[in-house]
Amino acid sequence: MARVLVTRKLPDGSLDALVKGGHDVVQRPGDEHWSHADLVQEAAAVDAIICLLTDPIDEEVLVSGAAGSLKVVANVAVGYDNIDVGTAHRLGVAVCNTPGVLDQTTADLAFLLVLAALRRSSEAEADLRGGRWSGWGLFDHLGLDVHGAVLGLVGYGGIGREVARRAAGFGMEVLHHTRRFTGLPGYVDSLHALFSTADAVSLHVPLTKETRHLVGRHELELLGPEGVIVNTSRGAVVDEEALADGLETGTIFGAGLDVYQNEPAVNPRLLRAPHLVLLPHIGSATVQTRRKMASLAVHGACEVLAGRRPPNLVGP
Ligand code: GLV
Repeated sequence: MARVLVTRKLPDGSLDALVKGGHDVVQRPGDEHWSHADLVQEAAAVDAIICLLTDPIDEEVLVSGAAGSLKVVANVAVGYDNIDVGTAHRLGVAVCNTPGVLDQTTADLAFLLVLAALRRSSEAEADLRGGRWSGWGLFDHLGLDVHGAVLGLVGYGGIGREVARRAAGFGMEVLHHTRRFTGLPGYVDSLHALFSTADAVSLHVPLTKETRHLVGRHELELLGPEGVIVNTSRGAVVDEEALADGLETGTIFGAGLDVYQNEPAVNPRLLRAPHLVLLPHIGSATVQTRRKMASLAVHGACEVLAGRRPPNLVGP
């Protein structure tokens, strides 16, 4: 029997597999947050941690866990930049995430942002709600056409491919760029060629040393005054100051963001920038998908605790 720390409330039924397996669940009443200091302390007393992307599972937490009997950290998220995976592996702690189950839901939201950024729907709605709509105007709230536009995808994993399917249905031409040749139609071998060609670019890469500020001033210039950028991956993949400059000066047409560099803080320049659609990191936020994510993370932890290799193991 293992002790499993579950850092936040999960959808009903998600912990059934743990309970059936005879494991002890350590969880706070309500949805009370564990501070970093609490996590460091509790890690030493548990065999598994099931956490959210808002929990920093850094070296300190992992060293404390490994000094005890921590065997696995399972993130209820596909991205795992909140976990120091290198240290986890060095200390023999397995890491699990939730690949696959959120691809379609996140792709829906990414495509919603492509549509909303090209058609400027947030600004139009804000004007209506703010009493600034004085009637139909030939030149009011002009956006750019979705059909016939070229969508460039940076990253072509499960989510990127689902975005591609949606875009094709809307009459867009779809291109993609990844570091490794995909051998698939629409592959563009250089990031800059993708930004020069596309009318809208949507980002689907994990946050790593290599992808931090992948999109900066130069990329936005290549996208140009009729281009939009959409980010549902991680905020730090985009240089937010460069993006604010680009929107303020019209270097690009618009943008749609679901993620931010310092969540939940949002760069105040972005809150004021024109032609920008902002959402509060809700890419995978549907009832069904959040259930599947929680169950998959719990399954991964149970498998590791049973000495088996889970399907959702990160790395070796
Ligand atoms: C959400 O951002 C996730 O990584 O699952």
